Amino acid sequence: IKRKLTARSDRVKSVDLHPTEPWMVASLYNGSVCVWNHETQTLVKTFEVCDLPVRVAKFVARKHWVIAGADDMQIRVFNYNTLERAHMFEAHSDYIRCIAVHPTQPYILTSSDDMLIKLWDWDRKWVCGQVFEGHTHYVMQIVINPKDNNQFASASLDRTIKVWQLGSSSPNFTLEGHEKGVNCIDYYSGGDKPYLISGADDRLVKIWDYQNKTCVQTLEGHTQNVSCVSFHPELPIILTGSEDGTVRVWHSSTYRLENTLNYGMERVWCVCGQRGANSVALGYDEGSIIIKLGREEPAMSMDSNGKIMWAKHSEVQQANLKAMGEAEIQDGERLSLAVKDMGSCEIYPQTIQHNPNGRFVVVCGDGEYIIYTAMALRNKSFGSAQEFVWGHDSSEYATRESTSMVKIFKNFKENKYFKPDFGAEGIHGGFLLGVRSVSGLAFYDWENTELVRRIEIQPKHVFWSESGELVCIATEESFFVLRYLAEKVATAQETKEGVTEDGIEDAFEVLGEIQEVVKTGLWVGDCFIYTSSVNRLNYYVGGEIVTVAHLDRTMYLLGYIPKDDRLYLGDKELNIVTYSLLVSVLEYQTAVMRRDFGMADRVLPTIPKEMRTRVAHFLEKQGFMQQALAVSTDSEHRFELALQLGELKIAYQLAVEAESEQKWKQLAELATTKCQFVLAQECLHHAQDYGGLLLLATASGNTTMVGKLAEGAERDGKTNVAFLTYFLQGKLDKCLELLIKTNRLPEAAFLARTYLPSHVSRVVNLWKESLGKVNQKAADALANPTDYSNLFPGLQEAFLAEEYLKETHVRLRPAAEYPLITSVPVPANIQQLHIAIEEEWDNIPQANGGHTRFSLVF
Ligand SMILES: *[C@@H]1O[C@H](CO)[C@@H](O)[C@H](O)[C@H]1NC(C)=O
Ligand SMILES: *[C@@H]1O[C@H](CO)[C@@H](O)[C@H](O)[C@H]1NC(C)=O
Ligand SMILES: *[C@@H]1O[C@H](CO)[C@@H](O)[C@H](O)[C@H]1NC(C)=O
Ligand SMILES: *[C@@H]1O[C@H](CO)[C@@H](O)[C@H](O)[C@H]1NC(C)=O
Ligand SMILES: *[C@@H]1O[C@H](CO)[C@@H](O)[C@H](O)[C@H]1NC(C)=O
Ligand SMILES: *[C@@H]1O[C@H](CO)[C@@H](O)[C@H](O)[C@H]1NC(C)=O
Repeated sequence: IKRKLTARSDRVKSVDLHPTEPWMVASLYNGSVCVWNHETQTLVKTFEVCDLPVRVAKFVARKHWVIAGADDMQIRVFNYNTLERAHMFEAHSDYIRCIAVHPTQPYILTSSDDMLIKLWDWDRKWVCGQVFEGHTHYVMQIVINPKDNNQFASASLDRTIKVWQLGSSSPNFTLEGHEKGVNCIDYYSGGDKPYLISGADDRLVKIWDYQNKTCVQTLEGHTQNVSCVSFHPELPIILTGSEDGTVRVWHSSTYRLENTLNYGMERVWCVCGQRGANSVALGYDEGSIIIKLGREEPAMSMDSNGKIMWAKHSEVQQANLKAMGEAEIQDGERLSLAVKDMGSCEIYPQTIQHNPNGRFVVVCGDGEYIIYTAMALRNKSFGSAQEFVWGHDSSEYATRESTSMVKIFKNFKENKYFKPDFGAEGIHGGFLLGVRSVSGLAFYDWENTELVRRIEIQPKHVFWSESGELVCIATEESFFVLRYLAEKVATAQETKEGVTEDGIEDAFEVLGEIQEVVKTGLWVGDCFIYTSSVNRLNYYVGGEIVTVAHLDRTMYLLGYIPKDDRLYLGDKELNIVTYSLLVSVLEYQTAVMRRDFGMADRVLPTIPKEMRTRVAHFLEKQGFMQQALAVSTDSEHRFELALQLGELKIAYQLAVEAESEQKWKQLAELATTKCQFVLAQECLHHAQDYGGLLLLATASGNTTMVGKLAEGAERDGKTNVAFLTYFLQGKLDKCLELLIKTNRLPEAAFLARTYLPSHVSRVVNLWKESLGKVNQKAADALANPTDYSNLFPGLQEAFLAEEYLKETHVRLRPAAEYPLITSVPVPANIQQLHIAIEEEWDNIPQANGGHTRFSLVF
């Protein structure tokens, strides 16, 4: 029992749960009606009905209504989306106690302190269709029979319960037995018993058989008036609430008191269970509470042929996947299956489980188990036990009798019993028998009950692979995958070496731990498929997690059918959904994990092309790059792999196909590291990586390449590279023209002054012209040697030097000659230019940003 919502409020007289939205409506004694969202724990809607008690409010989901009845004798209908009042009418001549909504017809029934029950038809303008007369005191509650919607029952302070038929204004019959007023009533909704339950001011709860009209049971225990009763629509329990402040939970077949709940909210007024859910809403003097009861996991099991068996209450039903035919199935879609009734079970099933070969099913509940034949549900064996698990071999099973005793059966006969050293808090079936205790998990041999290994872990589940080689142990926080080393165990058992009080040390090898909470799981080959606590459907193989689907609700794995390539899951409402998961992929991965590449190669052709890349990623992660490259169909993935493997040819081919600069860059890098300079050059060209090309060209001393690079770079506007390459080749004219072309006039002037003095005059004129556009003063300060030869001493000599060097500059010299070349003194008289500018500087007014511009130029 878990508390899901606590909503403090004024006194709550009725509660109702919405069938699809996460809402609870509570009607309050102070005149309000409140709607709470129990997922977000918030008050989502409020209706101020009147200033008198509102004793009842119900949802009518198909009309988006909340209908409320109050002490002002009015019925009010609200649209819960718009919050508008859709209708209002006076229904009775006294307080309204109860409303019952017909499940299919457009009717509501109302009951009142005026001793009447009335039927109203909303499709006929809320006309009163019928009045039911017969009670001699207040009519406290009415309920429609879920198995016969034409019949309803009423509870009255006249101490009777009456059963009515729609269409007949007098009661069908009356049940008498309570000694004081009856406050509440409910029908049992399971198919097996024609029962009603009632609670009264005599503090008793009575169960009635309404066919032979006798009281079959009286539940005693409440110490005050019983105000509400409910047969839970899903679980085998009865809930009763009383003015003594407690809610009592009783078993619905044994009538044993299972639990007494006291949340300290004073008197209990109302209880509401919900079909298809385990939630129960409770109303008190001080507010309302929603609790969640029982196991969420449905009693459901599938055999390896696709026959699914489940329990609906105590009815056992079967659905056969094979009967579905060839219809196209979508992943995650609910399957519509033909359901066959198998009969009812003597116990209320909490779990159903097929044995490994699917011939038998065991049904467990209430400390009992019954083994049936799966075909006809004929009982084969039964007994009492806290827990039941099947063995690895179909003829074996074990039961846990108590916290200290475990029994092993073979062919339905008790074979052995034993008392595990540290007790038995739980048992786990499979290849070895697992016994859980405070000291951890101990694995025993089914045959001789010898301890194989004790592991310090508190498992929730233990899942063995079919081969018995792998086991998954799932805890509250994570799961471990272990390999069972049967040979080492056999050796140790023979030699008695390595055997300690905790069993055989080398029995298991830990392969991995994953920080995920497994809810349900199963093995297919070496792949562990599971649902997680965050509703993922995943599988684990070789340390990797593959997500098959994100589920929109909690689902439980039923099994995997290889020939359908499908996984089947069920939810608590017994819906079955399926997800495709290719057996070929699982087989391939299993083969890889076993390093059986012969097998893997045989399976590969059966894997569809679109799945190959997923498989390749798996291979890559397992370190099989070469295989991954061979299998992958994704060019990005293949390129990555080819790079990692240094497969230049394949990578080159892929780069050609992809025409991506990035790929060419990556490949260039690889080619360079492999000294494949011709290839590197080509790649760098494709990648338009001029920096890289420059480095490659100069470092390899390839003149042809430098030459080609210069032209290409200039053409593509990579002027820095173009300048450098021209300069390296001694093509100073080209350098100068490049600077002029790119409007780098000051640099051009300085280059000319240094290397090509005959061009200085032309360039300075260009510079002056350009600078003049922004700052005439600065432009004027530039001296042209033609006009101020006095400022450029030695210029004539420089012209001569230029002439002389013209030839030497362009001559290419191999790097080997470097030590033989004598250094040339700096020919230009930069010093003097500097002085000339500085002198002018003082005459320039520092304005208009000229200062900045000038210094930049300088
Ligand atoms: C009744 O009580 C509820 C909650 O306790 C409150 O929100 C609401 O305003 C009250 N209504 C009136 C009419 O006092
Ligand atoms: C009572 O109900 C039963 C079965 O529903 C019906 O056969 C019988 O005629 C009803 N009796 C009266 C008095 O309405
Ligand atoms: C509880 O039962 C007694 C006896 O029938 C009655 O007098 C009293 O009013 C009941 N309490 C409530 C709150 O109805
Ligand atoms: C009425 O039926 C119940 C089973 O629902 C049975 O236990 C009880 O003995 C029957 N009573 C009579 C009087 O037939
Ligand atoms: C098993 O079946 C037999 C007859 O088929 C029946 O008498 C017995 O009550 C059943 N036992 C259980 C526990 O189902
Ligand atoms: C120099 O580069 C050119 C292409 O630009 C190439 O064809 C030639 O083989 C290279 N020479 C050497 C020695 O690598």
